[in-house]
Amino acid sequence: STDRLLPILTGQPVIPVVAVESAEEGVSLARALAAGGLPAIEVTLRTPAALDAIAAIVAEVPEAICGAGTILNPSQYEAAVKAGSKFIVSPGATVELLDAAQESEVPFLPGSATPSELLAMMQEGYEVLKFFPAEQSGGLAYLKSLAPVFQSLKFCPTGGVSPDNAKDYLSLPNVVCVGGSWVAPKALIKDGRWDEITALASEAARLKG
Ligand code: 3PG
Repeated sequence: STDRLLPILTGQPVIPVVAVESAEEGVSLARALAAGGLPAIEVTLRTPAALDAIAAIVAEVPEAICGAGTILNPSQYEAAVKAGSKFIVSPGATVELLDAAQESEVPFLPGSATPSELLAMMQEGYEVLKFFPAEQSGGLAYLKSLAPVFQSLKFCPTGGVSPDNAKDYLSLPNVVCVGGSWVAPKALIKDGRWDEITALASEAARLKG
């Protein structure tokens, strides 16, 4: 699973975390983000249109690498896979989700924050984890202090990551990429200001640690 996930996550410094109100909105957004250099996106299952949007993006935006996020249970995992998602992201992990991931070809990025959760994920064979919610869980200092203890683990911090702190996260050796919603602000999506989203994406795509 890491073999299929890592190339996606190392391909760009920021994975946009998006919420869309329609399939059409998803398609335009995915195009705008890919045009700015961020082909991999996480469409969250927080809106009723999410699954339709994923299917539409997969069908109509070949340059995008569309993943699904906010996956909370196996039925959402299966629905997201059926819609064509290329990767699956959860804020946490349960035995049921890990079982679903085991049976799926589509790679899983589970969320973890505490040392015991990290140990449990290591035991399951996961080497790349979402660190969520990053800022609220202790941010940079917390991630830094995990590094010497959990030497094999790599993270995608998400939650409270912004243009102000993204560079600092990306400079940590145990960070592969960051996730964030700032590149796809609700107000710009609502008004179809795709060029501005492309501009935000190009700035984010240039971020380096
Ligand atoms: C997520 O689902 O990963 C987060 O809600 C994204 O957090 P952000 O909105 O603070 O970037």
